[in-house]
Amino acid sequence: MYRHVVRLLHPTTGPEVDISDIHLDLERPPPPGRPWVMLNMVASVDGATTIQGLSGRLGGAGDRQVFRTLRGLADMILVGAGTVRAEGYRPPRTPDDSLASARATAGQWVRPRLVVVSASLDLDPTAPLFTERLPEDPPPLIATVRSAPADRRDALADVADLINLGDTRVDFTGLLATLGDIGARTVLCEGGPRLNHQLLAAGLVDELCLTISPRVVGGAGTTGPGLLDGEAFAVPSGLRLDRVLAHDDFLFCRYLVV
Ligand SMILES: NC(=O)c1ccc[n+]([C@@H]2O[C@H](COP(=O)([O-])OP(=O)(O)OC[C@H]3O[C@@H](n4cnc5c(N)ncnc54)[C@H](OP(=O)(O)O)[C@@H]3O)[C@@H](O)[C@H]2O)c1
Repeated sequence: MYRHVVRLLHPTTGPEVDISDIHLDLERPPPPGRPWVMLNMVASVDGATTIQGLSGRLGGAGDRQVFRTLRGLADMILVGAGTVRAEGYRPPRTPDDSLASARATAGQWVRPRLVVVSASLDLDPTAPLFTERLPEDPPPLIATVRSAPADRRDALADVADLINLGDTRVDFTGLLATLGDIGARTVLCEGGPRLNHQLLAAGLVDELCLTISPRVVGGAGTTGPGLLDGEAFAVPSGLRLDRVLAHDDFLFCRYLVV
């Protein structure tokens, strides 16, 4: 019988590497007609993506560095309104030194621009996301729909740029093409599960970064939908494992969608 040979990844005596350096070295060529799309999520070993409704409780120091690094690479950060509301989103910070100088060299904006997807426009215009923006940064973009309530549209018009990308649901192919047209070459999707599902279903994700948090949360069915929320795909997406890093019992897996 054929015996499969495996590679022992951990523990190893491999070099200690900086997460930013690893990511800065990787190629992310935009596919035709849209930016390169990275998706970053953290999950417990048993697949939970939140503890008491928040993802941060699954994280750790290394995970936060991956989060900051991927933000530091991106021209824009795409996020669902559910995640913005749950996690109390704020404007993206200035990336760390090596990423900041790489951005300057590449002619990127100093900070990534936030793009929120919402049909209801149930977003508070006085929230820090809108009020704490640095004056030199462009306002967040809100990708919305023609049927969005007019009063909420008016309330947000002074603090965000709103674009319609569908009648009742945002069309993500159109959205990504639009983001490409206004200068994005790399977009980071930070979830949540409903957004992730639609992007993967439409074949619009190039890179999936998954942090496996060394926790078992329990309570299947009560801790949220997991990484994706939606119908099963007719054909499962294939992934190629590109990098695995480890820090403090956390695993950081980078997959490429094939
Ligand atoms: N573990 C992790 O890494 C991680 C990452 C992110 C989020 N999370 C967790 O995920 C939870 C939120 O998940 P979620 O699935 O509710 O949120 P989500 O995917 O962030 O947001 C869903 C919302 O986005 C808008 N939306 C999505 N697709 C749309 C479309 N095609 N057209 C128009 N609007 C669209 C809608 O907003 P409106 O309702 O405003 O119309 C919808 O209610 C939170 O508890 C958060 O902590 C975990």
